[in-house]
Amino acid sequence: MQRPTWFLDETHSLGRENTDPEHVAHYDEKEDAGAADEIAMLRRMLPSKASEVVDLGAGTGQFALLAAEQWESVTAVDPSPVMLDLLRRKARAAGSSLRIVEAGYLTYERPAASVDLVYSRYALHHLPDFWKALALARIREMLRPGGILRLWDVVYHFPLDEAIERIEHWCATGYSAEEGGWTRADLEEHVRDEHSTFTWLLEPMLVEARFAIDDAVYDDDGIFAKYLLRAV
Ligand SMILES: C[S@@+](CC[C@H](N)C(=O)[O-])C[C@H]1O[C@@H](n2cnc3c(N)ncnc32)[C@H](O)[C@@H]1O
Repeated sequence: MQRPTWFLDETHSLGRENTDPEHVAHYDEKEDAGAADEIAMLRRMLPSKASEVVDLGAGTGQFALLAAEQWESVTAVDPSPVMLDLLRRKARAAGSSLRIVEAGYLTYERPAASVDLVYSRYALHHLPDFWKALALARIREMLRPGGILRLWDVVYHFPLDEAIERIEHWCATGYSAEEGGWTRADLEEHVRDEHSTFTWLLEPMLVEARFAIDDAVYDDDGIFAKYLLRAV
């Protein structure tokens, strides 16, 4: 189907830093995606090697590359050519069977009910809420009934009247440029220019998109949420 002219262009909304070669080159030093623990947990739920796995917003592929060692059919999807260039080099060096597709939540095409696990970490916040809901509906459509969405993102888990204080507290945890890691400027950019939302807005969207929330874990500061979701 031809996309309407009002459709969001994911290549323009994918986050300034994700097309910055300098940022991408150092991403893996800055961010540990905890992929081994994630895969150990998900392998228990999906023991068959033949499971179809998709990582949406795969970035440098920390999860996807390790997942491709566990399952035979793993696809990494991301709209950033800079991220994918690095991921392709890593996959080649590792001799990985990982499939790599340049697309996003709103453009990646899969037949209905053809996927067992969609993994998505720290990427959904690049879409404004209307588009998050559409993205979730598309993910639900590609998952088989009972299939899993593992969603991990910056999602604000606090009441509205605490928003300023909580966000300021988070920004104050940023490192200095010399220390490495996520700086105060990075965190401020996230809040100002990206689209992280509240758990009390995202969770009704998940239900509307026909996901059961099997598990939700929030960090103590109310900044990060990890969901285990099942397509119903
Ligand atoms: C912070 S990185 C996370 C990468 C990886 N998932 C991880 O956990 O390390 C965010 C990724 O989301 C991707 N992204 C941005 N907009 C997207 C969209 N509309 N659909 C899918 N991925 C998107 C970016 O290109 C970037 O690679």
